[in-house]
Amino acid sequence: MVRRVKRHSAVRGEVTPPGDKSISHRAAILNSLCDGTAKLTNFAPGADCASTLSCLRRLGVKIASVSANPTTIEVQGVGVKGYTEPDVVLDAGNSGTTMRLLTGLLAGQPFFTVITGDASLCSRPMGRVIHPLRLMGGRIYGRNRDTLAPLAIKGQEIHGLDYTLPVASAQIKSAMLIAGLFTVQKGRTIVREPAVSRDHTERMLQAMGVKVTSEGPVATLTCPTAPPKAIDILVPGDISSAAYWLVLGAIHPNAKVIIRGTGVNPTRTGIIDVLLKMGARLKVDNERTINNEPVADLTVESSELTAVDIQGDLVPRLIDEVPVLAVAACVAKGTMVIKDAAELRVKETDRIAFLVSELSKMGASVEELPDGIIIKGGGKLNGAGCSSHGDHRMAMALGVAGAIADGETVIEDAGAVDISYPGFWQEFERLVAD
Ligand code: S3P
Repeated sequence: MVRRVKRHSAVRGEVTPPGDKSISHRAAILNSLCDGTAKLTNFAPGADCASTLSCLRRLGVKIASVSANPTTIEVQGVGVKGYTEPDVVLDAGNSGTTMRLLTGLLAGQPFFTVITGDASLCSRPMGRVIHPLRLMGGRIYGRNRDTLAPLAIKGQEIHGLDYTLPVASAQIKSAMLIAGLFTVQKGRTIVREPAVSRDHTERMLQAMGVKVTSEGPVATLTCPTAPPKAIDILVPGDISSAAYWLVLGAIHPNAKVIIRGTGVNPTRTGIIDVLLKMGARLKVDNERTINNEPVADLTVESSELTAVDIQGDLVPRLIDEVPVLAVAACVAKGTMVIKDAAELRVKETDRIAFLVSELSKMGASVEELPDGIIIKGGGKLNGAGCSSHGDHRMAMALGVAGAIADGETVIEDAGAVDISYPGFWQEFERLVAD
């Protein structure tokens, strides 16, 4: 799908972002291993979480659709011993979280599974999840000397492990914690990271009655002796989807946007911290806690932004928001240096390379680093022909860039937004006005 975007004189209105993708994956996977049935309201409507649901169904989990708006489903837990061997290859589609978290779950099942994904997912690194799960006793094999999907998993008795991750990754941490729920000796699983990554798995497992602690970048899980208890979950709005409206509201000269019911878990709020530091007129109101997760309403208005640098421990707290923050940097005063972010090269696309190529087409001054980008701001963006390269976050970031650029921006493969935000372009049309 090709999308044509131009500048409008105002950006105004209220928006409720779709349910958080990371929390939705976990709500379905973790409730599937509980005893009991859980209702999940405002479940993320995109293709990634649909991939998780279809894999779980193939493993014998019954999932019913309750309503469409907001997406509400019911997951009937099978308990830790209730999964069944699938007779087809599991398909994780474009979703790294589906593949990695389910590999953790499958490592301890007494059967054989093969899991694959689309071309993008089959080119993303899987050695990082295979290695620790093998040390826990799992038998997992992959293409290209056990580094790439498809993965073959021959379930095995597994045990706890004390492991230090080379890069901060909530997907790998979560895969290990989930595997830790199936250890035979009921041992402890300890995951140490170089920086704190999102902690939704720990929070949800705690709410399910599992003993998990997080102390800074160290998560420790004790394998429960009784199955975790199913919990109904109201999924907060996705801050990674709210990010596009936060940046659009801040950089458009005539804007005010209110974003309702957004998750503001401190492991995810790097975007808010950075925009505030850049001088954004951004307010966080009505803070509350829902299912062990902080939620708030956000209001953003037209702002004069000044670039700040992004590096170190901040990076995992905003890794998915770098594409849209790069757009903000193009029009902010000063130069933004983003470094320590080599992980961007192994997301749905190489986001460093594509941010440089696509924003350059729009006239931005962007320089590629091995682990980041340098963006010289202060200029104008010009409409241009560009492409998402099939990456949902690139499509939405380019939409925001197009909404403040001179002339028309034509975005190829704009339908990629369906991965995390199927209603994105409709909301975009509703918020921009002349
Ligand atoms: C996610 C973790 C992050 C993030 C991804 C979702 C998760 O990936 O980029 O979009 O749900 O755990 P990594 O674990 O690779 O850092």
